[in-house]
Amino acid sequence: MINNLYGQDILSAGQFDRKSLDLIFSTADRMKRLVKSKGGSNLLKGKIMTALFYEPSSRTFGSFITSMQRLGGGFIPLQGVTYSSVSKGETLPDTVRTFASYSNVIVIRHPEVGAAKMAADFTELPVINAGDGVGEHPTQALLDLYTISSHFKKLSGLTVTMVGDLLNGRTIHSISKLLSLYSPVTLNFVSPDILKLPHELMNLLLERKVTVHEYEKLDELLSKTDVLYVTRIQKERFTDLKSYEKLKHFYVITPDVMKKLKKSAILMHPLPRVGEITIDVDLDPRALYVREQMANGMYIRMALLSLILKK
Ligand code: NCD
Repeated sequence: MINNLYGQDILSAGQFDRKSLDLIFSTADRMKRLVKSKGGSNLLKGKIMTALFYEPSSRTFGSFITSMQRLGGGFIPLQGVTYSSVSKGETLPDTVRTFASYSNVIVIRHPEVGAAKMAADFTELPVINAGDGVGEHPTQALLDLYTISSHFKKLSGLTVTMVGDLLNGRTIHSISKLLSLYSPVTLNFVSPDILKLPHELMNLLLERKVTVHEYEKLDELLSKTDVLYVTRIQKERFTDLKSYEKLKHFYVITPDVMKKLKKSAILMHPLPRVGEITIDVDLDPRALYVREQMANGMYIRMALLSLILKK
């Protein structure tokens, strides 16, 4: 397969087609086998990744770092801005140009929509968007779709129900774009009225002939859902904390809720969770957020780094 990701930025889930997803997923399969058999390799020896994280992160940051380590490369970890010149008022372009001269790829998480694109405009190096505010989180969408595809023979025909903060949840924005490539799919969007999916995204899905429905109640959808994708209400995006408090536990997945979900369905969450899935659900074999999504994040990021940095 031709590697059309070599040297490329990863800025939006909208940039992928089914062929490039096949390449990423088959590379991730290889990375999984590699990690299980030997722990890693020296494929990226001599390559350095800058991880520029202006917003909190556990899994995305940790899995990017370990991906580089397992492939024999190095990394510059910048988590938070307290100890870098950003705290002295340095601009994003200056920071990006600095680390571009030390490394081979820049992974960036930033509170502003479009920040990764802006970073990419200021360097020749490939830039990977690890979350730009309420915009997108394309690498999460890749690991999510990889997880879904390992549970179902075909992606087309699936009914995916997404629940929670659809307005601010960037993982939702990105996974919806990937799923739209597999029409016919049915996407159910379940949220409180003020947290509905952004209009532009809804329009894009309609243009792509995706079957979409919006609901406020989840209950009646459970028996018709193949993938239940739950997200937290994004507290940091609220200006009015009172309305956050009102909505934070609008949906809570408990073992009783799981009883109504299809036997063959899967339950996903990008994490962190803050009460929207109770811990007693973790033992349910359909709950994949701990067992599979986390590890898949590493295999997918190993795959991306190897494809971007090696012809
Ligand atoms: C998500 C994010 O940062 O958008 N977390 C993650 O990367 N797994 C989801 C979230 O914060 O709710």
